[in-house]
This record gives sequence, structure tokens and C-alpha cells, in this order.
Amino acid sequence: MNKFPKNFYFGAATASHQVEGNNLNDWTEWEKINADRLAKRSGDKPSDHVSGQATNHYELFEKDLDLMKSLGLNAYRFSIEWSRIEPQKGQFNQKEIEHYQKVVKACRERRIEPFITLWHWTIPLWLRDEGGWENKKIIGYFTNYAKKIVENLPEVKFWITLNEPGVYVNKSYRQGDWPPQKRNIFTYFKVLNILASAHSRAYQVIKKINPNSQIGIAHHLTDIGGFRPLAKTASWWANDHFINKIGSYQDFIGVNYYFHVRLLQPRLNEKVSDMGWGLHPDGLYNVTKGLAKFNKPIYITEHGLADAKDLNRGWYIEESLKYLEKAISEGADIRGYLHWSLLDNFEWWDGFWPRFGLIEVDYANDFKRTVRPSAYKYAELIKKYRID
Ligand code: FCB
Repeated sequence: MNKFPKNFYFGAATASHQVEGNNLNDWTEWEKINADRLAKRSGDKPSDHVSGQATNHYELFEKDLDLMKSLGLNAYRFSIEWSRIEPQKGQFNQKEIEHYQKVVKACRERRIEPFITLWHWTIPLWLRDEGGWENKKIIGYFTNYAKKIVENLPEVKFWITLNEPGVYVNKSYRQGDWPPQKRNIFTYFKVLNILASAHSRAYQVIKKINPNSQIGIAHHLTDIGGFRPLAKTASWWANDHFINKIGSYQDFIGVNYYFHVRLLQPRLNEKVSDMGWGLHPDGLYNVTKGLAKFNKPIYITEHGLADAKDLNRGWYIEESLKYLEKAISEGADIRGYLHWSLLDNFEWWDGFWPRFGLIEVDYANDFKRTVRPSAYKYAELIKKYRID
């Protein structure tokens, strides 16, 4: 028997920097300087590490939404590019705001529910020059930007303030791999606190403008098992800490799930994605169960794999949905599943080679879209599970 609740959202996700093309932000500038080094790291061409035109989704969004609709998807998570909206400090670009109004309208026309991310890792250049997330002033800047957007998109219900704040501080300030490439544990904690404050302030402002809105973050969760005492502490830090930190300033928890680890246990024979990430569909069950203590609705805001040959995506989605169904039947309040990603896209410092899309993008051939067989599989599963 189908356990998915009525009006469950089956959708897909993207992020502005990874799909839009022609952005100008802290990442685009960093890519130009680091392309040679990154190409050596992954053995491809420097141009594969410059986001450039990306997938040209900025122009092709209507076609992409048509494809979503044809597959039966009823939710789309995308992000707004702060650097387009506020290219200079305090100066908002009305034309760019209108662009996102068109995207929302196009979603509505196709009965696709928009889930909008306000910050998916990129910032405007003026803000980078002021120290980005290290500067406390960003709390006010972010809140202003959020206010501007929400006032201009009054009918949007679902707002995701921040994408994976934990991953961002880790990559940018602990490992020092991503811009601004600072490796400093004190800055790491400072930035984490600033992110939490920015979220909480923005939450209050958005709620005031639109009391019916549902606001949360897209949180990166890892399925951590193995040696219990260690696993418990590690899970607390990786999965619970930030959620605790933002406390009551969240209406739902957005789950981004990719990783499964077993501490102090031998690695099992496992299937892996093109990125080498183990494919464990039960992880989605484990991490959502682990969130029960927070008593909040859960949306899976990202889940997927790089799979250029599309060998694993179909069964991986099918098995993962089964595990979600199991969690739901045991009481988990899960209300949506947004696959990462709708399209192949620019995967940060790995560049263009990883293929995360339900829809293939042919970069050499005018960004031609081809729906992958696994996307048709997903469409079949949606038909089977959806109750409207
Ligand atoms: C997540 C990011 C997303 C994408 C996937 C593969 O951590 O939020 O932008 O890069 O990983």
C-alpha cells in the first residue's frame, strides 16, 4: 500500500551558479584564477572549470520547466543569484528581480511549486571585498536582500535561506579548498555563528512579510554508523548541531543527503557514483529517522548522484523512495523529495565532468537537453505514488 501522503512534492533541484550561466560573483572570479590548478587535479581542461555559460538555464528555464511538467514533477527548488539582484551594495536590479518573478510565474503556470533558496554559496563581488561571511555586517546585508526578494515574490511559500552552511564553512574555512580558501579554525567557528545569525534574522523578516511562508535551511546530513559512541558524537556534530543552533527559527528541515560512513568498521563492497560516493539508499531512512526529535516537517531538498552512463540513477531513486515510504509509514513527517539535479551542471571545483542530471545537457551542442531513462523511471514512480 502506498504510504506517501496526499500532496507530496516530487521534484528536482538546481542552484543559480551551477546552471544559469553568465554570472559575476566571488566564484566566477575564483574559477578564472584557479582553473589551471583544478584541471590538473581532475585531469581535464581548464575551461571545464570555468562556469561560463553553465547550462544556459537563465534563458532556457521555460523549456526546462516544460520538461519537468512532462515528467510529472510538481516542485522545483532553485536559487536566486544574489550577485544579479544586488550587483552594487544597496542597489537592487529590478530587471533581475523580474527574471525570477517570471520563473515563479512559469512554475505556477505548470502547477510546479517553487522552493526558493536565497543563498547557494555565491556572493556579489562588493560583498566579497568586504570580507563576505567573515564580516558581521553580512547579517544585515543578507536580511535586506531577503526582504527585497520576499516582498517581490509574495506568493512564494517555501523559502530556503541557506544551502548547507556546514559544508560551506568546512570547505571554505577548515579545509580551505573553496573560495575564499582560508584555513583557520577560529574563522570557521566565527563564520558558522554568523551564518546562524543571518538565517535567524532573515527568518524573522520573511515571516513578518509573509506569515504563511515556510522557512528553513537545506541541511547536509551524513548517515553515520559503526562504532556507536563515536558515531553518536559525530552525528550530533554533523547532523544536529546547526539545527539546534537555529532553534525555533525554522518551520521545516531541508535534508541534503549524499554520504554514508561506518566509523571503525571495514568498508563493505559498495556501489559508487562517478564521484566515488557510496550508494546507500537506506541512508535516507536513517537520517530522516534521526531528525524525529526535532518534530518538524521534513523535505528532502537534495539527493542524487553523478552517473554519466545513467546506470544507477533509476534503481537508486526507486530504492530511496521505498526507504522514504518506510520512514513515513513509521511516522516521519516527510513532505517532499527534490532530486539533485534536474540538469547536468557545473559542480563547483570539480567542474563540468560530473553528470548529476535527470536531464542530460550537451554543452557542445547548444546546451541540448536529453531526458535520461532514469528520469522516465522517476516519472513512473511518481505516477505510482502520487495522490492529488
Ligand atoms: C551539494 C550542493 C549542490 C551540489 C551537490 C552535488 O552539496 O548543495 O550544489 O553540488 O552537492
